Amino acid sequence: MNAAPDRYAVIGHPVAHSRSPAIHAQFAAQCGQRLSYERIEAPLDGFERTVREFFAAGGRGCNVTVPFKAQAATLAVVRSARVQLAGAANTLWMHDGVLHADNTDGVGLVRDLTLNLRQVLTRSPVLLLGAGGAVAGVCGELLRAGVSRLRIANRSLARAQAVVQAHAALAAQCGAQIDASVLDAPAERADIVINATSAGLDGAVVLPPATALHAGTFCYDLVYAAHGETPFVAWARSQGLRAADGLGMLVEQAAESFSLWRGVRPDTAPVRAAMRAGAGLA
Ligand code: ATR
Repeated sequence: MNAAPDRYAVIGHPVAHSRSPAIHAQFAAQCGQRLSYERIEAPLDGFERTVREFFAAGGRGCNVTVPFKAQAATLAVVRSARVQLAGAANTLWMHDGVLHADNTDGVGLVRDLTLNLRQVLTRSPVLLLGAGGAVAGVCGELLRAGVSRLRIANRSLARAQAVVQAHAALAAQCGAQIDASVLDAPAERADIVINATSAGLDGAVVLPPATALHAGTFCYDLVYAAHGETPFVAWARSQGLRAADGLGMLVEQAAESFSLWRGVRPDTAPVRAAMRAGAGLA
């Protein structure tokens, strides 16, 4: 008898735009894993109920996206160190009836920057623009990757300072400097500038201070464009700087979730290429 495939999902609000089903379908085909992966839109006040129903119905694991990542962290019984630091989770699974949580966003970013884009994080100064949920998810892994300095620049200084405070102990442990500033404060030169603001989503661009840039600065946008360039990437290239959007991070964080759930790591290169070519953007 053919058992039903193991069931996975991405839960968010909204979630219709999510590329995760296409990515996980390609991973499953590549690794010979029999599973289904669907989108589930939870009501804004019904995340916990939606998660409980999903697992009660036999769901094996789910990704969690905006705006529920902080709630996902609270809901889980076993939280990875990454979740505890970020206060947010994007990957849930049930093990022996116990809900587990991890956060694969930071690993996804670091793997894309270092393995795919061949950037050096070790002993490099990095400037992060923004201090919201996206930043909380990636700071820890940037510090663990060995950056020499992490500047968190944000429109609201208080929010940047809160991120610095949450990561101060880890930064000291990793031998990195970490500090906060407003967006237009003069900054030391950075080898990598990461846009983690949500500003580009409405076409606006948050720019780094000119003092942070040098000819070799690499600019990375956590968001990606389904077609063409994100405003931040377009701006960086117009300045003659090398730049990439976050499609690679999206695929890498998915691969990390997939390996947590299935115990096998897919090859991300063909999936990145297919997504970039527009294939599988269902
Ligand atoms: P996310 O989960 O995507 O990080 P968020 O937690 O709402 O979303 O954070 C959005 C980030 O983008 C914040 O750093 C926000 O700055 P504030 O903390 O000062 O609000 C930043 N942001 C959004 N729109 C912006 C804009 N027009 N100019 C500058 N920063 C902006």
